Amino acid sequence: MSDYKNLILSREGFVATVALNRPKVLNALNLELMTELVDCLEALDQNAGVRAIVLTGNERAFAAGADIKEMADATAVEMLYRDQFARWDRIRKIKTPIIAAVSGFALGGGCELMMHCDIIIASETARIGQPEILIGVMPGAGGTQRLTRAVGKGLAMEMVLTGRQITGEEAMKAGLVNKVVPVEFYLEEAQRLARTIAEQPPVAVRLAKEAVLKSFDTTIEMGLEYERKNFYLLFASEDMREGMAAFIEKRKPEWKGK
Ligand code: HXC
Repeated sequence: MSDYKNLILSREGFVATVALNRPKVLNALNLELMTELVDCLEALDQNAGVRAIVLTGNERAFAAGADIKEMADATAVEMLYRDQFARWDRIRKIKTPIIAAVSGFALGGGCELMMHCDIIIASETARIGQPEILIGVMPGAGGTQRLTRAVGKGLAMEMVLTGRQITGEEAMKAGLVNKVVPVEFYLEEAQRLARTIAEQPPVAVRLAKEAVLKSFDTTIEMGLEYERKNFYLLFASEDMREGMAAFIEKRKPEWKGK
């Protein structure tokens, strides 16, 4: 697969794993890394051989935030033109399920990137937070919105206004993280879950992911309408015929992704 300067990409069956790779700076998210990441995720999304993506860092850090050194001298107008968070919107549009495998620091932009993923597996060593307030700013890539929706107003306010980091365990109890496992298993566990998703009919997986995400930016009425249309659309897929026939014939279905 293609060479990236700041990412390590690997593939096993239908599952692609993308590891952020700026270990010396705890995977600080500079513009170059984010450009590569968005390009990479979009390329994987277009690849019919990839049915689930695992996004990870390393044991010490998922990502310790946007690259502070890259932002420290920028003016407001430069930031406006740089429009670096526009790239992040493209991650939101990826149709393939993305599972975050998080160990160590997931701070600021790192926490926000984690929250762009669909399911989060954390290690017992995960430290999750929005510490931007401590350096004179605030979250800028969705932290105030996604964290609040995930953990509720009280904890989100506390984290955003004080910069307090929470553990994987606390994040799980608050509904932000799906599962916490010992550090030696977090990547394996995320890949296992990715394989389980990759075994499901791919068209239904994509439409179902889309419908769940829709619930974040629509009324219940519109959301239900959207869900129903996606449900009906699946009756045009070969996999739907196969799935129901296999159930009736008491055999295992064979998905074609069509
Ligand atoms: C640039 C960073 C960095 C960052 C760590 N480093 N975080 N460089 N941007 N966000 C670098 C350090 O400068 C240092 O490099 C090396 O990584 C190791 O970090 P240390 O601080 O020596 O490690 P440690 O003492 O273990 O402390 C770990 C830490 C701390 C608690 C995570 O590094 C930290 O507080 N980092 C900043 C976290 C943060 O504020 N994130 C939010 C950023 S703003 P050198 O060369 O000095 O050895 C943000 C805005 C979001 O994310 C907007 C959307 C993208």
